[in-house]
Amino acid sequence: MKLGVNVDHIALLREARKINDPDPLEAALLAKRAGADQITIHLREDRRHINDEDVKRIVENSQLPVNIECSIDPDIIEYIANIKPYRATIVPERREEVTTEGGLDFSLIYDRLDNVVHYLKAKDIEVSLFIDPTKEAVKASKILGVQWVELHTGRYANIFAMLYSNLSLTRNSIKEFEIQRSKLKKMLYKSLEDLKNAAIEAEEFGLKVAAGHGLNYQNVFAILDIDEIEELNIGQSIVARAVFDGFENAVREMKRIISK
Ligand code: PXP
Repeated sequence: MKLGVNVDHIALLREARKINDPDPLEAALLAKRAGADQITIHLREDRRHINDEDVKRIVENSQLPVNIECSIDPDIIEYIANIKPYRATIVPERREEVTTEGGLDFSLIYDRLDNVVHYLKAKDIEVSLFIDPTKEAVKASKILGVQWVELHTGRYANIFAMLYSNLSLTRNSIKEFEIQRSKLKKMLYKSLEDLKNAAIEAEEFGLKVAAGHGLNYQNVFAILDIDEIEELNIGQSIVARAVFDGFENAVREMKRIISK
């Protein structure tokens, strides 16, 4: 299974102070050293984390294939077409959202999507569509002629969190707790089945299959059982883990310096 590391959250931390540290390119280079197969970045319309200059620097210097997530905004598509990354993944985008909330809604943007897919492919950029794991979405992707689909794992990840964090389960009575758990287990099973079926369908259509969103060190295992998925794009949980894995060393080093 290939790993695309999403470094948007490094840029988000930088933007909190509007300075140049931490640098998402440095994260990309460390990800390469650690065995990542690809760097994934999302150039959002509001530029809340990754900006145009980051895209250019990362595509030119990361020494890994770069997968740029983006909406179908014409200016962004034009920018990406000129930068020529290895792949563009078209995602839906809403200004108010905290993160990408669902797969593409084809009915809303089909004609514009069709133009964008043809335009990017003509520029020799592989195109992927971020879709909900449904037959309809896989079929629409096939008709549009993209090479990849990325299956949205957010629903699976949310149910997994509800089931295993326990915090979201009511504590009224043991019976009610058990009823809720059993409902969530069924929902979890169904969400995995949807992902599996969509992956099979996509592979049968000759599409390459990626998946991502909300995957972490606990919930990723069940996804690994879906053989048709060949790549995962993971960001938030890796950056969250990195904060704690590196925090102790960072404090120790500052203490050492100022103790002289
Ligand atoms: N794949 C896509 C298409 C995404 O939009 C995102 C979030 O930017 C990811 C993968 C990574 O999600 P997460 O940060 O939750 O791992």
